Amino acid sequence: MSRKVDVRRRRFFGMAAICGFAPGLPAFADERGKGLGTTAESETPVPPTEDLMREHGVLRRILLIYESGARRLGQGEDMESSVFLQTAETMRDFVHDYHEKLEENHLFPRFKKAGRMVPLVEVLTTQHAAGRKLTDKILQIAPTARTDSGRRKTMIDAMEASIVLYRPHAAREDTDVFPTVRSLVTPDEFDALGETFEREEKSRFGADGFEMMAKKVEAIEKRIGIHDLSRYTPRI
Ligand SMILES: [Fe+2]
Ligand SMILES: [Fe+2]
Repeated sequence: MSRKVDVRRRRFFGMAAICGFAPGLPAFADERGKGLGTTAESETPVPPTEDLMREHGVLRRILLIYESGARRLGQGEDMESSVFLQTAETMRDFVHDYHEKLEENHLFPRFKKAGRMVPLVEVLTTQHAAGRKLTDKILQIAPTARTDSGRRKTMIDAMEASIVLYRPHAAREDTDVFPTVRSLVTPDEFDALGETFEREEKSRFGADGFEMMAKKVEAIEKRIGIHDLSRYTPRI
C-alpha cells in the first residue's frame, strides 16, 4: 500500500473512531480507537487544513480549562497545581511545538511567497511568540502558585492573556488563512502537505497523536468538572 493511501486510511479510521462509525467495523459508542483494524471499503482523506482546524479544537478546550481555572482561582478556590502544569504542557507540546510549527514552516512561507495576507501572517507569527512566552510563564509559576498568592495572580493573568490572544488568533486562521491555502498550492501539493503533517505528528507523538492529545485534555476537563458539554447550554 502506498504511503498516500496508508495515510488516508489511518486518517479515515481516526475520524471514524471519533464519530463512532466506520463501514465494515464493529459498532461502538464513544470509546475512541476501540475495535479498529478491519479494512474499510472507502477511504476519506482529511485535508491538511481540516487537520489544523481540529487541532484548534484542542486549543479551544485548553482555553476553556484556563478560563475555568483562572475564574476559580480568582474566587479563592484551592486547585491542584498539576491541572495548570499539565494543561500548559499540552499547550507547549501540541500547540506551540507542533501545530504552530506546521503553520510557520509550511503555510506562512507560501503566503509570503505569493504576497497574500502578508501583514496578517506577520501578526500571527508575532502572536505565536507571545503565546509561547505566556505558556512558559504558566509552566514556571504553576508548581508554586498554590501557596504563593502573588505568583498565583501572575499565573491567572497569563492564562487570561492566553485566552485573549488565542481566541481571535485561531478564529482568524480558521476563516481567513486556512480557506486560502488551496488557492496557493496545486492539488498534489495540497495532498503532500497533508502527508507532511501526518509524518510530523507521527514522529512527535507516535500513532494517533491528535487523539492522544484530545484525550489528555478531556481527562483534565473531567478532573475539574467541566467535561459535561450540557453545562454550557443556556436555560431558555
Ligand atoms: Fe497560529
Ligand atoms: Fe493555528
